[in-house]
Amino acid sequence: MDILSFLLISLKLLFFFYEFAFAIDSISSSESIRDGGTTLVSVDGRFELGFFSPGSSKNRYVGIWYKKVPVKTVVWVANRINPINDSSGVLMINSTGSPVVVMMQNKTVVWSANSTKEGKSSVVLQLLNSGNLVLRDEQSSGDRFSSYLWQSFDYPCDTLLPEMKLGWDLKTGLERRLSSWKSPDDPSPGDFTCGVELQGNPEIFMWKGSNKFYRDGPWNGITFSGSPDLSHNSIVELNFVNNEDELFYTFNLVDKSMFSIIVMNITRYLRERLTWSETTQNWNVDSYVPRDYCDSYGVCGAYGNCITTQSPICQCLEGFKPKSTGYRDWSEGCVRNKALNYSKLDGFIKFNRLKLPEATNSWVNKSMNLEQCRVKCLENSSCMAYSNLDIRGRGNGCAIWFGELIDIKQNSNNVQDLFIRMSASELGTKEGPKMKIVVIVTTTAAVAGVLLVGYYIYKSRTNLGNITLFAFTKQSTLDQ
Ligand SMILES: *[C@@H]1O[C@H](CO)[C@@H](O)[C@H](O)[C@H]1NC(C)=O
Ligand SMILES: *[C@@H]1O[C@H](CO)[C@@H](O)[C@H](O)[C@H]1NC(C)=O
Ligand SMILES: *[C@@H]1O[C@H](CO)[C@@H](O)[C@H](O)[C@H]1NC(C)=O
Ligand SMILES: *[C@@H]1O[C@H](CO)[C@@H](O)[C@H](O)[C@H]1NC(C)=O
Ligand SMILES: *[C@@H]1O[C@H](CO)[C@@H](O)[C@H](O)[C@H]1NC(C)=O
Ligand SMILES: *[C@@H]1O[C@H](CO)[C@@H](O)[C@H](O)[C@H]1NC(C)=O
Ligand SMILES: *[C@@H]1O[C@H](CO)[C@@H](O)[C@H](O)[C@H]1NC(C)=O
Ligand SMILES: *[C@@H]1O[C@H](CO)[C@@H](O)[C@H](O)[C@H]1NC(C)=O
Repeated sequence: MDILSFLLISLKLLFFFYEFAFAIDSISSSESIRDGGTTLVSVDGRFELGFFSPGSSKNRYVGIWYKKVPVKTVVWVANRINPINDSSGVLMINSTGSPVVVMMQNKTVVWSANSTKEGKSSVVLQLLNSGNLVLRDEQSSGDRFSSYLWQSFDYPCDTLLPEMKLGWDLKTGLERRLSSWKSPDDPSPGDFTCGVELQGNPEIFMWKGSNKFYRDGPWNGITFSGSPDLSHNSIVELNFVNNEDELFYTFNLVDKSMFSIIVMNITRYLRERLTWSETTQNWNVDSYVPRDYCDSYGVCGAYGNCITTQSPICQCLEGFKPKSTGYRDWSEGCVRNKALNYSKLDGFIKFNRLKLPEATNSWVNKSMNLEQCRVKCLENSSCMAYSNLDIRGRGNGCAIWFGELIDIKQNSNNVQDLFIRMSASELGTKEGPKMKIVVIVTTTAAVAGVLLVGYYIYKSRTNLGNITLFAFTKQSTLDQ
């Protein structure tokens, strides 16, 4: 080792100890954070809070970013709407009366975070290892969730961090929704948002302004029936909590040392899952939605099934025909071949490998079984479909849909069965030819399977590379 590199390492070590010794993760009532002064750093050094200017803007904001990531990645902004136009900003606690975090510019309050709870006189503002900025009683333990007087996780910006909740506190009515920045230079809320809609069978939606833009599909106990980016993978495990008190989506890191986030990207109108790569020193886009044309909300109309690989891309579900006769005009959706009878004589056709229809008009019961669910649906003339609520094990719970079924997409990853109401006559006429179709499909599949396996063996023998087998099935059998 030469003298230069020895000096360099010593310097780095010194710098490290300096940072370690002087970094603080919290301030009390008598302290403040000034623009250009100290920052808050979480105990594990992962997150940092301070003043910053986004993109080419000169405005000053208080934000939280990953300290360990060299590409400045701001995950939360306090004064999104009220930037400070000079460097006189100060963040501090005002503990006169009930404690409030205030941001001041020249004696004017620019931003404040009210506590909804009565606080004691001694409070601290602390940046936790999770990236959550919390205001809490000095005496309470740092990680007691309920003891926070205020927390930044309740007011998300464009980024969902691990452990953050996307959705509702049903007791207080607080909704936590993601909203994109207006532009890379302006963190104020853009028109691109994502949240959980309160309805019989709750779903996550993305909106562009007040218009629905993308739907993740109902939760089936394991995943959402139409979204790759909110799914389990080797990096994250997810959870959807739906009880009397709370309704939210959240995810956790399998390997706590990794960085993985969900971001609303205004530049591309995408919701992306990004994971930090140590090797490339960049954020990898693991997945994103919308992915394709079929992800556009309601693109095929009622009872239309959007199939990316088909032409036309909108097909009518079995038992339905195009409403409009115009060539390739599928915007009107589909209508029944045979009108419903609206009696106990109606039946159901089973569909699977679908992103289940929009559940805005729906009803659920967690303890009913599939047969009780069928009976419940038949009883109500506006019920058009039913399914299990939870597909784990042999499936349980009941979800039923009222009115026209929309925003359906072929999704070969979803094994959930959906039973769609049909008139008795539709079921009757289909029985004959259907059996033949099943036989033909099975035979074709078997032959294709043999060919593919043969091809695969040939390929691997000759070592020309791999092929990927895409499992793609559409199964529709009679349910009687
Ligand atoms: C900054 O904002 C303050 C308060 O809104 C205003 O009075 C002042 O003129 C602004 N200064 C500049 C340089 O824009
Ligand atoms: C602190 O709070 C008190 C009582 O709510 C208020 O009168 C005062 O103006 C506040 N001070 C600042 C600097 O916000
Ligand atoms: C602070 O505010 C006062 C009164 O509003 C104003 O006279 C003064 O110029 C401001 N100072 C700065 C540095 O903006
Ligand atoms: C926050 O404080 C402001 C000003 O003191 C008040 O008008 C507002 O109602 C408070 N909000 C909540 C949620 O307490
Ligand atoms: C959005 O995507 C663009 C292009 O990939 C990227 O440069 C930008 O950083 C992304 N924005 C966010 C907020 O992730
Ligand atoms: C309902 O079905 C029964 C038996 O198939 C038939 O007799 C009756 O006409 C049907 N009613 C309607 C309104 O379609
Ligand atoms: C759900 O179904 C069970 C079993 O049929 C029934 O006892 C219960 O009352 C239902 N709950 C609701 C809210 O309808
Ligand atoms: C059918 O369900 C709808 C929606 O929940 C409800 O408004 C209607 O009263 C029900 N009809 C019957 C006959 O139960």
